[in-house]
Amino acid sequence: MNAKAALRRLSELRLRETFAHERRCGALAFALSEHLGLPPATCAAYRHAAELHDVGKLVLPDAVLEKPGRLSAEEYALVRRHTEYGHDILTASGEPGLALAAEVALMHHERWDGSGYPHGLRGEAIPPAARLVALCDVYAALREERTYKAPLSHEATCHWLLNGTPAGEGLHPGQFDPDLLAVLATAPALFHGAFALA
Ligand SMILES: [Fe+2]
Ligand SMILES: [Fe+2]
Repeated sequence: MNAKAALRRLSELRLRETFAHERRCGALAFALSEHLGLPPATCAAYRHAAELHDVGKLVLPDAVLEKPGRLSAEEYALVRRHTEYGHDILTASGEPGLALAAEVALMHHERWDGSGYPHGLRGEAIPPAARLVALCDVYAALREERTYKAPLSHEATCHWLLNGTPAGEGLHPGQFDPDLLAVLATAPALFHGAFALA
């Protein structure tokens, strides 16, 4: 996994916030897949994929990456392309061990209800690893501080994920695989523990 190590190092140097976010997503993906009883090799592969899911952000300009506050519509459209850039980078590595990571990089913003991007895939048309990383990604992002928002507590994060945000602010439970959301509802400590220890 030399290509993975190099990309993680590059992310650590250029994308400090994203590097830590990806590490937390890796821990969450491992804990969730283990809880689901997936084989150890699959759990490890999901962790690796989660640790690289935002690698396409390496292509984004500093003016966008480091912009304090909300992005313009054009900037947001560029940020959305990190999915395709990530897939391109990971596919170009030519390493079979990064094929799953490439798939997750491309599809982790797809949503169960079809409202995601880049392709608006729906339900089981989205690969299982991408569905799993999608939930871990949003859990982690809500818990983390951003230039435009304060970090949320574990309790508030679970409430938002399970009930949606008020006034249609963009987060609603229908965007997630219901079987995965059920794990958050019944075993929330799993998420809290993985996030806290990562
Ligand atoms: Fe992303
Ligand atoms: Fe992410």
